[in-house]
Amino acid sequence: MIFVPSLQHGDVSVRSIRVRDARPLRKLLTDNRAWLEKWEATIPGYSVLPPVGDIIRSLLRLARQNHAAPFIIEHDGEIVGQITVSGLSFGSLSSGSIGYWISQHRAGRGITPTAVALVVDWCFTGLGIHRIEICIRPENVSSLRIVRKLGMRYEGLRRRYIHIDGDWRDHFCFAVTIDEVPGGLLARLTRGTANESLADIPEVDRIAARTPIR
Ligand SMILES: CC(C)(COP(=O)(O)OP(=O)(O)OC[C@H]1O[C@@H](n2cnc3c(N)ncnc32)[C@H](O)[C@@H]1OP(=O)(O)O)[C@@H](O)C(=O)NCCC(=O)NCCS
Repeated sequence: MIFVPSLQHGDVSVRSIRVRDARPLRKLLTDNRAWLEKWEATIPGYSVLPPVGDIIRSLLRLARQNHAAPFIIEHDGEIVGQITVSGLSFGSLSSGSIGYWISQHRAGRGITPTAVALVVDWCFTGLGIHRIEICIRPENVSSLRIVRKLGMRYEGLRRRYIHIDGDWRDHFCFAVTIDEVPGGLLARLTRGTANESLADIPEVDRIAARTPIR
């Protein structure tokens, strides 16, 4: 069972998702439909997503099984988005993958990079995870800015990797290991000393991502 903590930096905090978040989350997701749908994970063969309450219960089940750490993002105490560490594995791999979204009305204030840094630092120091990755669609310019701000290292192109917005989509993968941020990711972010060029994507991969798979 993963105990998901509450973590805070300034006016940004993250905390464990709860079943009673279903109502405010449903409203946020409905209000942000057009903003989110292009980037939202979907289930092959299904055109509608499960009800929000079912999604929350499924995330909590995964946390009980040590597979995920699902967080709500709050700004000034108001729910503004979600961040989840999924695909958690321990032992020789000790790795996980982070996904996130934030409401359009709070975008552009650096909330998500701060939330990611809080969660990654906890994964490293509280959970014993060694490596975290973030996979992003080539078209998602805003999300690609996040990994640059955090100085995450580009690892490569994964073809037709995640089912997003109704189809299998290519993703660029970025990662950070605990050895790369001895003082913590949040400290590095707030100091503004991340090496953004680590997230540079080679032209060959940009071209490959525009070329259909045979
Ligand atoms: C990607 C996302 C999480 C960024 O969160 P955020 O809290 O706005 O992050 P930041 O404040 O650091 O902004 C990141 C970039 O978004 C862009 N941005 C800022 N305000 C924006 C707005 N109102 N609308 C669109 N993009 C905006 C800017 O390029 C910014 O980079 P900059 O600070 O260098 O100018 C958010 O845009 C989002 O939830 N998008 C929809 C869902 C999604 O893409 N999830 C990630 C899937 S990998």
